[in-house]
Amino acid sequence: MRVAMIGAGYVGLVSGACFADFGHQVTCIDKDAARIAALKGGEIPIFEPGLPELVESNVGQGRLEFAAEASSVGEAEAIFIAVGTPSRRGDGHADLSFVYQAAREIAPLLSSTAIVITKSTVPVGTGDEIENILREKRPDAEIQVVSNPEFLREGAAIRDFKHPDRIVVGSDDDRARKVLAEIYRPLYLNAPPIIYVSRRTAELIKYASNAFLATKITFINEMADLCEQVGADVQEVARGMGLDNRIGAKFLHAGPGFGGSCFPKDTSALIKTAHDYGVPLRLVEAVSTVNEQRKRAMARKVVQALGGSVRGKTVAVLGLTFKPNTDDTRDSPAIPLITALHDLGATVRGYDPAGMEQAKPHLPDLHYCQSAYSAAEGADAVVIATEWEQFRALDLSRLKRLMTQPVVIDLRNIYRDDEMKRAEFRYIPIGRAGVG
Ligand code: UDX
Repeated sequence: MRVAMIGAGYVGLVSGACFADFGHQVTCIDKDAARIAALKGGEIPIFEPGLPELVESNVGQGRLEFAAEASSVGEAEAIFIAVGTPSRRGDGHADLSFVYQAAREIAPLLSSTAIVITKSTVPVGTGDEIENILREKRPDAEIQVVSNPEFLREGAAIRDFKHPDRIVVGSDDDRARKVLAEIYRPLYLNAPPIIYVSRRTAELIKYASNAFLATKITFINEMADLCEQVGADVQEVARGMGLDNRIGAKFLHAGPGFGGSCFPKDTSALIKTAHDYGVPLRLVEAVSTVNEQRKRAMARKVVQALGGSVRGKTVAVLGLTFKPNTDDTRDSPAIPLITALHDLGATVRGYDPAGMEQAKPHLPDLHYCQSAYSAAEGADAVVIATEWEQFRALDLSRLKRLMTQPVVIDLRNIYRDDEMKRAEFRYIPIGRAGVG
């Protein structure tokens, strides 16, 4: 099938490359001519494990191409809109201007039976508005608008695309449903459930899923605070809870608060939509507030560990991205942590395996180091902010020799107390007692 993907950003590129890998003929279209030129030259503008190889092989086999002109939608039967929907400055609503602009641009170019599919995360009712735009410009055409949200995690996006827990198709139209079924047919061997729902329901499934996961994380984070006060161990609490099939073990890792390009923006957009409809979502509102406060509170943990003040002290922060296997620092908990430590008079040295360039505009005063060990030089404390693989097995005696004081604050709970005890560290994890 001929597929066009409008937007060659994170979602567009991963989805486009995976559809091509399924055997479809895909054109990824982006207004950013420099990005398209880079892609044509074999450069992948985002960090995603496995993506360069996937793009290269599908370009090589002639199934994937890139274009800067909207006219390249050509005779595509399925046109996905995968442009950004950032938070609108000031009010937290999703900014839909890129989505509507894409709809206006493709309207005159589409075949009269095209299926237009939103992959971008868009508030309930956006599909109706896209349909209005297309109808106005093409009153005679039989174009259908479908919602087909993505559930991709950065760092695991290709796996998530090819082994989805479910595929959600939001449309009441039979022809549109058949086209979507055909697009995802190569996945049927793995038998993921395809659920066919109305467009508005599909739009809401995406937000409800993200808000629920954000709630799960925030729940265990608050339990972690309680564990610290009552002398319990949050990892064991999470395990004990997670073995109950109704709860499930995933997304119960306590940490410094969720970040990234989706959860913070999507929870706040959902809250705004619900308000517009007169249905306040008090639980999701609390999740969003608690999470923001938590990110700021992480600096206090460091201050406490260093005897009440970090003024004149040196802190090493390992990990700047919002999670491992990405170079994305959007809403990363490391940013408010480091900003607060600077404000409190500390010198902060930082290292991240992939996110240092992205962090620079947010953290101009950070001393960027070339390895975890170089960041630890002269440090009074090492803070593990992101659970990158390479931080999981640090040479603790080497680390200790480099530091001024042997203090590790582990915001991701990746070390065990006994190994830290053996290495004679003071060790402060999340939601359990630690060492010293
Ligand atoms: C998320 C959703 O998982 C995905 O389905 C959606 O399409 C986009 O948003 P992503 O933002 O890539 O994906 O990251 P995810 O792995 O979900 O983690 C989000 C944040 O939650 C990270 O900051 C992570 O560190 C944090 N987290 C996650 C926890 O603190 N504890 C957990 O148990 C899980």
